Amino acid sequence: MEDYIVRMEHISKSFPGVKALDDVPLDLKSGEVLALLGENGAGKSTLMKILAGIYTRDAGDIFIFGEKKDTWNAKIAKENGIAIIHQELNMCQHLTVAENMFLGREPGKAFLLNRGDMNKEAAKVLDNLHVDISPKALVGSLPVSKQQMVEIAKALSVNAKILIMDEPTSALSSKEIDDLFVIIRQLRAEGCGIIYISHRLEELSHIVDRVSIMRDGRFISSGSFSDYTMDSIISDMVGREIKEKFPHVDCKAGKTILEVRHLNAGRMVRDISFSVREGEIVGIAGLMGAGRTETTRAIFGIDQKESGEIFVDGREVRIRKPSDAIKNGIVLAPEDRKKDGLCTKLPVQHNISLPNLDLISDKAGKVIRRKENTMTEKAIDDFSIKVSDPGVAVQNLSGGNQQKVVVAKWLSRKSRIVIFDEPTRGIDVAAKVEIYNIMNQLKKDGIGVLFVSSEMPEVLGVSDRILVMCDGRITGELSREEATQEKVLTLATQFEKKIETKGEENGTEH
Ligand SMILES: Nc1ncnc2c1ncn2[C@@H]1O[C@H](COP(=O)(O)OP(=O)(O)OP(=O)(O)O)[C@@H](O)[C@H]1O
Ligand SMILES: [Mg+2]
Repeated sequence: MEDYIVRMEHISKSFPGVKALDDVPLDLKSGEVLALLGENGAGKSTLMKILAGIYTRDAGDIFIFGEKKDTWNAKIAKENGIAIIHQELNMCQHLTVAENMFLGREPGKAFLLNRGDMNKEAAKVLDNLHVDISPKALVGSLPVSKQQMVEIAKALSVNAKILIMDEPTSALSSKEIDDLFVIIRQLRAEGCGIIYISHRLEELSHIVDRVSIMRDGRFISSGSFSDYTMDSIISDMVGREIKEKFPHVDCKAGKTILEVRHLNAGRMVRDISFSVREGEIVGIAGLMGAGRTETTRAIFGIDQKESGEIFVDGREVRIRKPSDAIKNGIVLAPEDRKKDGLCTKLPVQHNISLPNLDLISDKAGKVIRRKENTMTEKAIDDFSIKVSDPGVAVQNLSGGNQQKVVVAKWLSRKSRIVIFDEPTRGIDVAAKVEIYNIMNQLKKDGIGVLFVSSEMPEVLGVSDRILVMCDGRITGELSREEATQEKVLTLATQFEKKIETKGEENGTEH
């Protein structure tokens, strides 16, 4: 048994109103990647926070390198070589990249922080990850994907022997994911044990040796990855089979609902023109940084437009701020749930009712509680949000369930156009299907759906038509029938021709 570097037995943990973990085991060997899988709210993050000493367990035993650990907290866990990359970004926005990486353990003598060394050390780790970020950049100025890379770099800089990665790739581009996989394989070869949590099941085959599956706070099964199939993993996670992963309904496309003409807003939104018709879901595909989120933000009035027109149901609308968009029937479920989408300290109920106060208030502007309750109950029910009580603060929900709240709050009001920006990020397989079904229902109800997604199978499976963006422009449009992964990728990498400086490109790569 000595080869187990982590052994957890009979772990239980309750929060008010929920038994998050019930008699759960987990083992990890050195030099292996263990995938910890389960639906949203299954208890994965809770189990990992117990291993990292952040939460205390109610019951159960923890053995690290064969030694039983009775007193266990975050400090001791760190001293035992455990590092955790959290699911929710945990960065101090107003500090630099290097400061975040070395927070609490700055190099140099006591109280004397050697900034030069710190920046140099940070640059080394970032370089290893092939990330092009300055150690001196303010974290708050970076996009989510870069912040995620900093979080990863932070964990790697402590030379962990046991590394926990809770959804590290949900905000990364495919290139960044590839780089991360190289690092994971390298760490594994050096004998590090890695626990890997992800809802992107298709990436498991690249790195995973063993899987352990949980459901509703209980252990379901565990074994070598090669003994499982994708279907057996899903049925262990969900407790049933999922026949159709990308349900699609055929509707006849009707009249145009949204039309965008020659929209310009900064470098990432250049001369964007497209339309969405009744009865169709229009996907926007592209690589990370192609300008998809910026386009949705410009339409919704978060970012200023420089020029261009927007028509809803044939009528030109002026959108200077989000409330103008909402008034004209456009809603947006944004990409960055923590920053733009949720007030995490407020209860689920208020998060859902806040953007909809006009619908649940009387003439004097006073909220009618009965209406608020009905609205939240319906949303919780429609989206199967796992929460013991609508009064629970959003920050206590599992990551995927927080994402469901973002989508639910915007669908609680009638609209003409719903824009989803990466709506299924961090959401489990079964809940993804629920979100696709909701999109399909909107489409059947004659609402226009615009759907930004980085997951290729999802865009191809769900959209009726796909716009592909690259470098702030639309580089092509594909119908559902003609769209393939290759065609989308070709368009997604159609960069404008740069003026080449002869000969200088040679020899720099490989
Ligand atoms: N601090 C907390 N206070 C109250 N309840 C909590 C807290 N942390 C987690 N929970 C609850 O414990 C259960 C398990 O949550 P956990 O975050 O471990 O799920 P998960 O498997 O990581 O899900 P996801 O895939 O969505 O991230 C959920 O019902 C969640 O609401
Ligand atoms: Mg989680």
